[in-house]
Amino acid sequence: MTAPSATPGSPVLITGCSTGIGFATAGYLSARGYTVYATARRPEVLDDLRSRGCRVLRLDVTDKPSMVAAVEQVQRHHGSIGTLINNAGYSEISPLETCSLERYRKQFETNVFGMARMCQLALPGMRAAGGGRIVNVGSIGGRFALPLWSGYTGSKHAMAAFSSALRMEVRRFGVEVTLVEPGFVRTNFVASLSRNMADHAQEMTSEAYAPALRSFTAVTRGVLSGAECSEARRLQRHGLRARALTWAASDPDRAAKVIHKAVTARRPRPRYLVTGHARAAVLAHRLLPARCWEAAVCSFFTEETDSTHER
Ligand SMILES: NC(=O)c1ccc[n+]([C@@H]2O[C@H](COP(=O)([O-])OP(=O)(O)OC[C@H]3O[C@@H](n4cnc5c(N)ncnc54)[C@H](OP(=O)(O)O)[C@@H]3O)[C@@H](O)[C@H]2O)c1
Repeated sequence: MTAPSATPGSPVLITGCSTGIGFATAGYLSARGYTVYATARRPEVLDDLRSRGCRVLRLDVTDKPSMVAAVEQVQRHHGSIGTLINNAGYSEISPLETCSLERYRKQFETNVFGMARMCQLALPGMRAAGGGRIVNVGSIGGRFALPLWSGYTGSKHAMAAFSSALRMEVRRFGVEVTLVEPGFVRTNFVASLSRNMADHAQEMTSEAYAPALRSFTAVTRGVLSGAECSEARRLQRHGLRARALTWAASDPDRAAKVIHKAVTARRPRPRYLVTGHARAAVLAHRLLPARCWEAAVCSFFTEETDSTHER
C-alpha cells in the first residue's frame, strides 16, 4: 500500500521551526498551500512564519506534555497529522574521553527520542486515517562518523536506524517514512554548537585534544556560517580544505526543496541526500579503504598544518 502524497491543504507539523531548515521548510510548504503547523520551544519567535500563513504552536521535543498538546491540536482540527517533519536537533562537539554521559544523553533525548516520541504520538491518527508521511531530518553524519562528533553522529546513526525500522513497520498502514540527510547547510547550527561548547568549556580544557578541537571548530564555524574561514586558513596553512567545504555548504532552502520532494513524491525514496558534496562524501566513504577515508577526514577537520601550533 502506498501512502497518498501530501496535497496542498493537508496538515503538516514541523518541529524546530525557529531557524534554519525548519524555518525554511515551513515557509516553503506554506507558500505552496499546505496547512503548516510551525512549532518551536519559544513560539514567540515564529511571528514571521505566522505572518506568512503558518499556524504556530509551542513544542519542545524533550517535553512530553507540549508534544501531546501540539499533536492533539492538529488532530482536533484535521482528524490526523497528514505529514510529520521531525527536524528539531542540535549538535555538540567533544572528545569522547572528556564528554560527560549526561551530555550524550541530552543530545539523544532531543535528536533520537524526541523524534521517536513524535512518531508514537502521530501514528495512531495516521493509521486510523489510512495513511500519512513522516520525514525525519537526519544528516550525512548518519552515514559515517566524524572525530569529536561521536554524540552527534551517533545520534544521527540511531535516527537512521529508527527510520529504517519504522518504515518497514508502518508501510502496511499507508504511512511512508523518509530520511532526509543534509550535508553542510548554513543555519544557526554553528551558533548553537558554539553555545554548547562555551557551556561545557571545562570539559574542553584537555590539552591533549586542544589542537584537534581548535581545528575542528575553526573549520565548522567557517563552513557553516559561510564566513571567510580566516581562522581555518591560518591553522591549515592555505586553508584549501576549509575553503572547499565552505564553497560546498548550501542554503536551508535547498533542504526545504528536498523535504518538499519527500512529502509530495508518489513513491518517496527511503533516503534523500541534500547537496552534491553530501552525495560525493557518501560515495567516497563507500569506495575508499577505511584507513584512507579516515585519514582524509582527519586532514579536513582535525589536523593543523600551521607549525606554530605543532607540539
Ligand atoms: N546545518 C547543517 O549543516 C545540518 C546538516 C545535517 C543535518 N542537520 C540537521 O538539520 C536539523 C535542523 O538543523 P539546522 O541546521 O536548521 O539548525 P538550527 O538553525 O540550529 O535549527 C535547529 C532547530 O531545532 C530546534 N530545537 C533544538 N532543540 C529542540 C527541542 N528540544 N525542542 C524543539 N526544538 C528544538 C531549535 O530551536 P531553538 O531555537 O529553540 O534552539 C531550532 O529551531 C537538525 O536535526 C540537524 O541535525 C543540519
